[in-house]
Amino acid sequence: MNLANWEDARDAARRRLPKIFFDFIDGAAFSETTARANIDDFEKWTLEQRVLVDVADRHLSTRYLGTGRPSPLILGPVGFAGLFAPNAEIKAARAAHNAGIPFCLSNFGIVSMEALRDATDGPLWFQLYVLKDRDLSENLLRRAQSIGVEALVITVDSQVKSVREKDTRNGFRTLTKLTPGLALKLMRKPRWVAGALMAGPIRINNLSDYPEYGTNALEQAAKLGHLIDSSMTWDDVARFRERWKGKLIIKGILSLEDAAQCARLGVDAIIVSNHGGRQLDGARSSISVLPEVVGEVGDKLDVLFDGGVRRGGHVVKAMALGAKGVLLGRSYAYAVAADGQRGVETLLELMRVEMDVAIGHIGVRNFNELFEHRDRVLRRHA
Ligand SMILES: Cc1cc2nc3c(=O)[nH]c(=O)nc-3n(C[C@H](O)[C@H](O)[C@H](O)COP(=O)(O)O)c2cc1C
Repeated sequence: MNLANWEDARDAARRRLPKIFFDFIDGAAFSETTARANIDDFEKWTLEQRVLVDVADRHLSTRYLGTGRPSPLILGPVGFAGLFAPNAEIKAARAAHNAGIPFCLSNFGIVSMEALRDATDGPLWFQLYVLKDRDLSENLLRRAQSIGVEALVITVDSQVKSVREKDTRNGFRTLTKLTPGLALKLMRKPRWVAGALMAGPIRINNLSDYPEYGTNALEQAAKLGHLIDSSMTWDDVARFRERWKGKLIIKGILSLEDAAQCARLGVDAIIVSNHGGRQLDGARSSISVLPEVVGEVGDKLDVLFDGGVRRGGHVVKAMALGAKGVLLGRSYAYAVAADGQRGVETLLELMRVEMDVAIGHIGVRNFNELFEHRDRVLRRHA
């Protein structure tokens, strides 16, 4: 498959996936305004071209969580990704690790963390929601520790279950089993069906000891939203900081006060994120919040970023505004649905080239120089 950019991956994913699953990736909360703003607001900054600067010796490395990285890209947590292609998480993680970047398994990923660890050997992160079931949380933490994950990512922006209207129409999160109507719709995508039949039953394998939360992915999707603890507070973050000896990342920060509180609690990194606009419709775009958060806590912890990142140029803008690393969500979900491991590898390579072209044309050789010269290389428009 000849993908030239993320939109090709999205088109191919749309052709290959049953609508219920494509819409699950593509959709966002209510009117989807925040999801659109995440992408559109990158255009509020333009890159300033400079010529005749020696940029022969360029690289795209960065540093966060105390470790040098060959690229700022990270594959972020995407729940139910194993629905998009057989063993999608393993395929995406292998692509990430071939590029030397971390892969973060979602709390609601399909593959078990042990199977993922056995399948690939690069940096793995595990994302956890604050769950009402403390026994389940503890079980997941213990396992994450025993497979040696590099970082625990706690997502804090999903305290209240939001609504994605595309999912409502399709019945994703209400259907608990394969109905004749759904079977007919799935059959319109025979390649997907063939892959799913060969892969066997699809369910969240990290939860296989907890049948009360469902025994197949559809039933689990319907039940798990209610598992997230709406009563969570900063005490829970303090408790996780105490309990988890490794690197701790808080995902879903959009305000200066919350960022400052993370720094006070000794969190190693935060992810400026609005969950791809899938939670609070009407929230500010991630990129518009990023510079303020970096100004507030950038010297106290690592600020990572996601939301609307589709192009290498987006990554360059986020890095110029002070991010240390950038997570991909939908773009790699489309790519793995489109063409498995090869799809994600292609996307990562396309984005590498896009980043390299962007930094070269603005006359910097690396992300340190980019940040140093941020006032010259980025221009903000109203
Ligand atoms: C299909 C899908 C499932 C997601 N599942 C999770 C999840 O389980 N945990 C989580 O913290 N974030 C989840 N996210 C949010 C992503 O980690 C990320 O914040 C978001 O996708 C970034 O925006 P972008 O898709 O515009 O790049 C999900 C996103 C998508 C598209």
